[in-house]
Amino acid sequence: MTEPILTLSGISKSFPGVRALNDVSLELYPGEVTALIGENGAGKSTLVKTMTGIYQPDAGEIRVAGKIVTLPTAHSASAVGITAIHQETVLFDEMTVAENIYLGHAPRNRFGMIDWRKMRAEARATLDAMAAGIDPDIKLRELGIAKKHLVAVARALSIDAAVVIMDEPTAALSQKEIEELYVLIELLKQDGKAILFISHKFDEIYRIADRFIVFRDGEQVGKGMIKNTTQSQIVQMMVGRAVDHIFPERTATIGETVLEANGLSHPTEFEDISFAVSKGEILGFYGLVGAGRSEVMQAVFGMTQPSSGSLVLNGQIISPKSAADAVEAGIVYVPEERGKQGVITGEPIFKNVSLPSLRKTSKSGFLRMAEEYALARTYTERLDLRASSLSQDVSTLSGGNQQKVVIAKWLATLPKVIILDEPTKGIDIGSKAAVHQFMSELVAEGLSVIMVSSELPEVLGMSDRIVVMREGRIVDTLENNGLQPETLVRLAAGIAEEQAA
Ligand SMILES: Nc1ncnc2c1ncn2[C@@H]1O[C@H](COP(=O)(O)OP(=O)(O)OP(=O)(O)O)[C@@H](O)[C@H]1O
Ligand SMILES: [Mg+2]
Repeated sequence: MTEPILTLSGISKSFPGVRALNDVSLELYPGEVTALIGENGAGKSTLVKTMTGIYQPDAGEIRVAGKIVTLPTAHSASAVGITAIHQETVLFDEMTVAENIYLGHAPRNRFGMIDWRKMRAEARATLDAMAAGIDPDIKLRELGIAKKHLVAVARALSIDAAVVIMDEPTAALSQKEIEELYVLIELLKQDGKAILFISHKFDEIYRIADRFIVFRDGEQVGKGMIKNTTQSQIVQMMVGRAVDHIFPERTATIGETVLEANGLSHPTEFEDISFAVSKGEILGFYGLVGAGRSEVMQAVFGMTQPSSGSLVLNGQIISPKSAADAVEAGIVYVPEERGKQGVITGEPIFKNVSLPSLRKTSKSGFLRMAEEYALARTYTERLDLRASSLSQDVSTLSGGNQQKVVIAKWLATLPKVIILDEPTKGIDIGSKAAVHQFMSELVAEGLSVIMVSSELPEVLGMSDRIVVMREGRIVDTLENNGLQPETLVRLAAGIAEEQAA
């Protein structure tokens, strides 16, 4: 029997009003991947933070190679060989990629000064080994979210830790980058590192994990070897009941055209995009990551300006110059990257939800607050938000629950058209059904929904019609009637029928 490299025993951690972790134990073994699984708010990220010196546990012990350690700071965690890629990456936009990778552990010359040349060379070597295609000398802010995540991975590798923790590392990556990350994880395993991997995606858990541990409401409710356990057994432990995700039946009546795009083009991102969405309709946008779907939606939402083409809303040409213009016209966009940019930290949940709708709640003082509260309650309940109270600071919510707050906030503006970009990313399997149910209620109430999704079951389960995009163009628009998943994959990847067979 191999000995665990890291052992946690009896770890508890409470926040005002919540017991985030209760008597949790965990062992991590060298050369193995352990998946940490649980619903939004189960305590996964909190555990990661107690293992990396960000939070101090109220009780319990952490041992590395059998020895008890205390981790008063993040630095002390890397000193004992524990490193993490957090759910919300903690990197610095104004520093270069190399500086971000080596912050706190830069190579030094014999005078004890930072050896910049060596640092850049080593950063380049690590990034090249990862095939990341990132220049170590550019400022971090020049990178998109996926590349930033790869920089966080490079940082973890450069620390040369015995324990590597990854908190939903693939949520922000494209399929190609995900594949590269799997290869990296394989290399880390061969190197004898112990990996703790947090994910809501069962396909990847089954692909890369050796062991699993399940949390529910801050307690450990099961663990074992992946190869001896079925997915439905794990879901049962997670949710406490069997989850049979059946997509809601489409009962909405589809009415007149609400929003129409005619030949929208952008100099670099997309070309000749035409589509229409009707009252009561869910229009799905499927494509590989990078096909240009989000870029089209950002143009519809006024965040960027198309170079040609037009938008027609309820028969009137509109040309939103900003997101505020679009919201005014009745179009809202819930972006894919909801974490940091979507919430106002330091403010309670109810303020976050009611903020863009403030003009609609006109009263002053206490009455106004009551109204904001009621508005927030309506929408967050329907999205199955898990919070101790709506007065809770939004930044103390778990990652998945923050995402629900962002969706609620935009829905509360009572738009005519709502664009949801990857609506269930980072949302656990139990809440997914709640989000889908809510979407179908919204269309039944007469809203038009545009849903960008890379998840085939979601696209096929929810859409009335499906637009497929590839390399900035629309390849086809299909009625979702007996469509086969292969058809969509083939269109999105640009594989001809004969080749696919
Ligand atoms: N700083 C904090 N102050 C108060 N409560 C907190 C704080 N951090 C986390 N919590 C609470 O602790 C619980 C566990 O949150 P945690 O972020 O660990 O969940 P998670 O399992 O990572 O969920 P997700 O899948 O959504 O990322 C939640 O109820 C959350 O609101
Ligand atoms: Mg989390």
